[in-house]
Amino acid sequence: MKQKSLVAEIVRVAILLAATLVSCQVAAQEPIVIKFSHVVASDAPKGEAAQRFKELAEKATKGRVRIALYSNSTLYKDKEELEALQLGAVQMLAPSLAKFGPLGMKEFEVFDLPYMFPNLEAVHRVTQGPIGKQLLNKLESKGIIGLAYWDNGFKVMSANKPLRVPADFNMLKMRIQSSKVLDVQMRALAANPQTLAFSDVVQALRSGVVDGTENPPSNLYTQKMYEVQKNITVSNHGYLGYAVIVNKKFWDSLPWDIRTALTQAMAEATKYGNARAQEENAAALAAIQKTGKTAIYHLNVKENAEWRAALLPLQTQMAGRIGKDLIDAVRKESAMADVNK
Ligand code: LMR
Repeated sequence: MKQKSLVAEIVRVAILLAATLVSCQVAAQEPIVIKFSHVVASDAPKGEAAQRFKELAEKATKGRVRIALYSNSTLYKDKEELEALQLGAVQMLAPSLAKFGPLGMKEFEVFDLPYMFPNLEAVHRVTQGPIGKQLLNKLESKGIIGLAYWDNGFKVMSANKPLRVPADFNMLKMRIQSSKVLDVQMRALAANPQTLAFSDVVQALRSGVVDGTENPPSNLYTQKMYEVQKNITVSNHGYLGYAVIVNKKFWDSLPWDIRTALTQAMAEATKYGNARAQEENAAALAAIQKTGKTAIYHLNVKENAEWRAALLPLQTQMAGRIGKDLIDAVRKESAMADVNK
C-alpha cells in the first residue's frame, strides 16, 4: 500500500510542478501594459509623438511591453490625468508644462513667460541642457519621473474680433491653461482669464463661455477651434511644450533592460515629434487660412513692440513665484541661441 501512495504523491507533485511552470511561462509572455493618456487629437504633434513612441517601444522590447494609448481626453482630461498618474491608475502622460503648478511645481511656469525664447533652438538649449534636467529631477519628490520634453510650438491668440494691439483684449474672457503666469499674462492685457480643461475649450468658445484663447496653430486646427474663432493673430508671444512623465513606482519596478529600451525609444520619439511639431504648426496655419473661416493677422513692428511692452514685465513680476535665479538662468541660456535659426 505504501508503494502505491508514494507513487501517487510523486505524480501529484509532478502535475503541480508542470502547472506552475506553464503558468510562469504564460505570465512571462503577458506583456507589461503601459497606459499612456493625453488630451490632444492623435494627429496633433503630441499625439503623433506618442504613437511613434508606442511603435518604437513595442518593437524595442519585442512585445514584452504594450503601450495602451488613450488620446483626446478619452481616458482622463486635464487635472484628472495628473491625479491618476500619482495613484498609478495610468502610467504615462505628457502634460503641457503650463499644468504643473497645481502639483506644486511652480518652476515649470518659467516656460509660460512671454517672450522667453526667440526660437525653438533657445527652448532646446534649456530643455535638453542642465536646467531642463534639474526641473525634471524635481518631479521625483512627487512620485514622478520625467523622461523627456516634447515641443508643440509658439502660441497664437484667437477671438471673434481682430487682436492687433493690447487694448483689443480689454474685457475679453480668454481661456488659459492652469498656470498663474498665463493668468497674469491675460490680466496684463486687461482680459479676463478663464482656466478650462483643454477638452472643454471648443464648446466653451462655441457657447460664448469664453471669447478667445491661445495655443499653437496645430491645437487650434486639430480641435477645429477655427470654426468658432473668426480671428487669429500670429503673435508667437509664448511657448507651449510638454514633459513626458511616468509613475516612479511603476518605472522603478521595470526590469533594467526594459527601462533602457524605453529610454532609447523615448529619445527617438522626441526627435521625431519635435520635427513633426514644426511641420504641423506651419501646415495648420495654412490649412486654417484655406478654410476661409478665420482671418489670420501678422503683427507689424509697432504692434509687436506694444505687445512686448505689455507682456515682458511678467519676467520680473513672476520672479517671486518661479524663482529669480531660474528665470535669469533660462534667459541667459536662451540668449545664447542663434536668433537667425
Ligand atoms: C492646452 O490645454 O491648451 C494644451 O496644453 C493642450 C495640449 O496638451 O497641447
